[in-house]
Amino acid sequence: ISFFTGCRSLSQLAELPETHQILRQTCRDYADRELSPIAARLDKEHVYPAKQIQELGAMGVMAMEVPEELGGAGMDYLAYSLAMEEISRGCASTGVVVSVNNSLYIGPILKFGTEEQKKQWIQPFTTGEKVGCFALSEPGNGSDAGAASTIAHQEGDEWVLNGTKAWITNSWDASAAIVFATTDKTLKHKGISAFLIPMPHPGLSLGKKEDKLGIRASSTANIILEDCRIPLGYMLGPRGSGFKIAMQTLDSGRIGIAAQALGIAQASLECAADYAHKRTAFGAPIGKLQAIQFKLADMAVAIEGARLLTWKAALLRDSKKAFTKEAAMAKLAASEAATFCSHQAIQVLGGMGYVTDMPAERHYRDARITEIYEGTSEIQRLVIAGQLLKEYQL
Ligand code: CAA
Repeated sequence: ISFFTGCRSLSQLAELPETHQILRQTCRDYADRELSPIAARLDKEHVYPAKQIQELGAMGVMAMEVPEELGGAGMDYLAYSLAMEEISRGCASTGVVVSVNNSLYIGPILKFGTEEQKKQWIQPFTTGEKVGCFALSEPGNGSDAGAASTIAHQEGDEWVLNGTKAWITNSWDASAAIVFATTDKTLKHKGISAFLIPMPHPGLSLGKKEDKLGIRASSTANIILEDCRIPLGYMLGPRGSGFKIAMQTLDSGRIGIAAQALGIAQASLECAADYAHKRTAFGAPIGKLQAIQFKLADMAVAIEGARLLTWKAALLRDSKKAFTKEAAMAKLAASEAATFCSHQAIQVLGGMGYVTDMPAERHYRDARITEIYEGTSEIQRLVIAGQLLKEYQL
């Protein structure tokens, strides 16, 4: 089903088009029915949600922006943001698997790939049976993405890659990776290129699965490349364009992570509001106390502001306008809202917020990563300030 209606106007921030409302409700119903009830177990046991990812694939959610002829849903980025929020509200781990496949893996291939590459590397990743990953960070450089030390050199009709990529979300469950490596170190960021590598593949191995604070149902590990040989045709985009591909990909990816953070923040608010009705203290439900009401109000304001920023960034992207600054603003606001709301939810729940019987502690742990991956909050501030200084140049 295609929900695409050409949602193009910022006035739609006030009321979503009917098709987008239907998509939102469909994803919300799915998350309530299939994700929320199992999220705690997936988290506790570190289980990849393979069945759910395939069901989301059947709903079109694993390849939201991909044209229907390539097996995708043919929707826009606003639709993707709505789906991401609802799925993450049910299970933030499932949310990040969806986000990495859509934004970081499929996104750059759709934008920079040849027609042949799109068929080979996108089509099989639309159904949820296969997912991709994005390998930019390294043990020695995360925020300084231009300092990549993984090397790719040409030998005959092959590229040979050597180096280690770090913190790679989806890596243990992925069937392909976009790997960034330098083809000429002297050129610094202009020497970085992007490569497509199937997984598993000779010369490519995985490090240990990281034991993380949150999003524990998604896998994170190093990708180690030791004389990893791939055909010349597996380069994505022109030689030396890797850094720009990575930056543009992250601009889009940050909208997806903003939406993931919104889902966590919204789930925290709902958990706190529900408890405020049920729990009595001083002779009445705690929701009657101003101390609790103020917390709920502050949470709702943080969420609504971040949601509007997220939708604005998505709409700008859908209108083919510049959105680097707005995507960074959305990610910054939404991830800080998630941290704030999940903190406040535990405060409202008290002791019950601190134990695994209730979801509040999972939201608190899941929220934390949204301020770190796809650019820390500090990097978002750098990006925003960089754009502002350009705008306000005399
Ligand atoms: N779009 C297009 N081009 C861009 C760009 C953008 N958003 N941002 C920068 N560029 C271009 C610049 O125009 C410049 O081009 P020229 O060389 O032609 O002039 C070039 O890139 C270098 O730009 P800067 O000098 O601004 O680059 P920098 O080295 O100072 O770095 C940075 C800028 C913002 C700090 C960048 O390195 C960055 O975003 N770092 C964070 C990296 C990050 O988000 N990592 C997350 C890892 S992925 C992940 O988390 C995935 C996961 O598993 C979930």
